[in-house]
Amino acid sequence: MRHLMSPLDFSVEELDRLFDLANDIEKNPKKYAHACDGLKMATCFYEPSTRTRLSFEAAMLNLGGSVLGFSDANSSSAAKGESVSDTIRVISCYADICAMRHPKEGAPMVAASKSRIPVINAGDGGHQHPTQTLTDLLTIRSLKGRLGDFTIGLCGDLKFGRTVHSLINALMRYEGIHFVFISPEELRIPDYITEKLKDAGITYEEVISLEDVMPKLDLLYMTRVQRERFFNEEDYVRLKDFYILTSEKMEKAKDDMLVLHPLPRVNEISVEIDDDPRAAYFKQAQYGVYVRMALILTLLDIKVA
Ligand code: NCD
Repeated sequence: MRHLMSPLDFSVEELDRLFDLANDIEKNPKKYAHACDGLKMATCFYEPSTRTRLSFEAAMLNLGGSVLGFSDANSSSAAKGESVSDTIRVISCYADICAMRHPKEGAPMVAASKSRIPVINAGDGGHQHPTQTLTDLLTIRSLKGRLGDFTIGLCGDLKFGRTVHSLINALMRYEGIHFVFISPEELRIPDYITEKLKDAGITYEEVISLEDVMPKLDLLYMTRVQRERFFNEEDYVRLKDFYILTSEKMEKAKDDMLVLHPLPRVNEISVEIDDDPRAAYFKQAQYGVYVRMALILTLLDIKVA
């Protein structure tokens, strides 16, 4: 049985097959409408989410399956002190696959080790968010036609942003990637990640000014300052509006640069950018459903002829 804990759980070839499947689902949704008839997905969310949870639920419903679960730790038995190991043993009796989000790093991994059904890590603390990464990669591949030879800027909260950590891990496996890390001093990318890049001989730079690097970027991945992971509100308030992507800054960008964002957006992208053809973040949310459909089929080993 297979789980998904990190984007690296799939080889580059397996990812290509997954993305081909997601693109086929996009083109021929009807073909897949009954692929999961009679099957159930449990969404166990111990931390708030709209996008990721609803995206999983939409994916399972699009495949003809059903969904059950909880969206708040307080409304589950966790509030009574139940461990994730016990919860997943019970969920294994009710559902065929489970997507789990948890504020503690590693909790979905603990669940997977006790589970009789595939477990998908839907975000664990500041650690990983593999299905967002699959979404990001599918969006880039579909809109750019390739997954290598890019200068990619990652901007905002690079310290706490799990989507950033997962995406860097995944992109490291492709050729010709140059990373530009754009953040305030306090929210710099963790050393363990830059160490990995150095060991792998991958080039990167760390800057504070977004404006200065705009002209060289092929992709710009904006992120929200992760308020819930700050130790004090004052620091959050000081840093929350450090970056705001405006039309003026977009004028400095390449004509075919893509702006990505895992969402939710707060202030970091001005709404005036939404109509710019380079703004890809809402398309990204749509690709998130296709890739989760492809993932469910892959983990449940369901082939649609
Ligand atoms: C991200 C997350 O949960 O880490 N959101 C998402 O899954 N789409 C990003 C965020 O919350 O900023």
